[in-house]
Amino acid sequence: MAGLNGYTPISTAPEELTTTRLYRLGEGVGKVVYASDHWVVKRERSPTEVIAIIVLWKLLRKAESILPGGFGKRLMERPSRQIRFLRVLVQGCMAVVPKSVWFTAHIADVWKVYYKRDVRGQRLANAILTGTSLVPERVTFPPTRVRLRGWPGWLTVSEATERVEDTLDRRLNELARLGRFEEVEEWLNRFLHLRQSGWQHGLFSLDAHLKNFGICGNHVVLLDTGGLTNRWSEVEERLAKERSTSKPHVQLGLSSMLAARPDIAERFDQQWKANVTPATVRHHWNKAPGASA
Ligand SMILES: Nc1ncnc2c1ncn2[C@@H]1O[C@H](COP(=O)(O)OP(=O)(O)O)[C@@H](O)[C@H]1O
Ligand SMILES: [Mg+2]
Repeated sequence: MAGLNGYTPISTAPEELTTTRLYRLGEGVGKVVYASDHWVVKRERSPTEVIAIIVLWKLLRKAESILPGGFGKRLMERPSRQIRFLRVLVQGCMAVVPKSVWFTAHIADVWKVYYKRDVRGQRLANAILTGTSLVPERVTFPPTRVRLRGWPGWLTVSEATERVEDTLDRRLNELARLGRFEEVEEWLNRFLHLRQSGWQHGLFSLDAHLKNFGICGNHVVLLDTGGLTNRWSEVEERLAKERSTSKPHVQLGLSSMLAARPDIAERFDQQWKANVTPATVRHHWNKAPGASA
């Protein structure tokens, strides 16, 4: 049964977390995720690490706009090892260059927004999504030391999340690589469907990119609760920004994956434009118990 914080309390950590060395499975702006076969644990990055990531992104974006040939974009799509190396480099520079040079108002804002959204989203998910099929199962246990492959070697955790089979992003890429486009389309529809289920709970994700979703059996789940909001004003603001996007699949980073199948891209864009609108979101939203106005 779920505890007060929305997690299921258990008396000891799942055995495989303590009997194996966990490996780095994924990472985002604020967290690094380590896995055993069936569970993941998350390490919160230090503030300096988070800021280094934001600074790096900004630098890559700048490189993208100055240098020809998609240099910055290619780097941003690189496997995480290279990005990690660059992040460490940036963090090194931050240590020697005066703070006034790199700590701009914009970077401070991005940092604050990330933390605020992360905390609020987690709180909303705990209160509203626990026990539903929209999120993977989570458990809490007394603080337990787990061993990690590579730096920092170990970590103390008191919660774990069910490991999903794949992130949506990876599954789609793999299916496209194998030419299994019917399944690509099916998963894209399931992704839209999951978002609608979220709206029916009075929740909307402001950070709905494909790495933040995962696959459990035959449905899509939300992996990253950061960015969930229950405020209609924020939903409206986001949808107003999205209205100018003529090709949602490009926005989601699907353009090269769907290059061979413009028909799927076209159908997806149509679906998206018909469904991700204030009127349709509101329609689902109104079904939520106690949804905010
Ligand atoms: N339960 C999970 N199973 C498998 N991979 C996961 C799981 N949770 C997170 N991940 C991977 O770790 C990445 C970072 O986790 P996330 O919660 O999104 O952190 P951040 O807030 O830093 O974005 C995700 O994008 C995903 O690739
Ligand atoms: Mg994330």
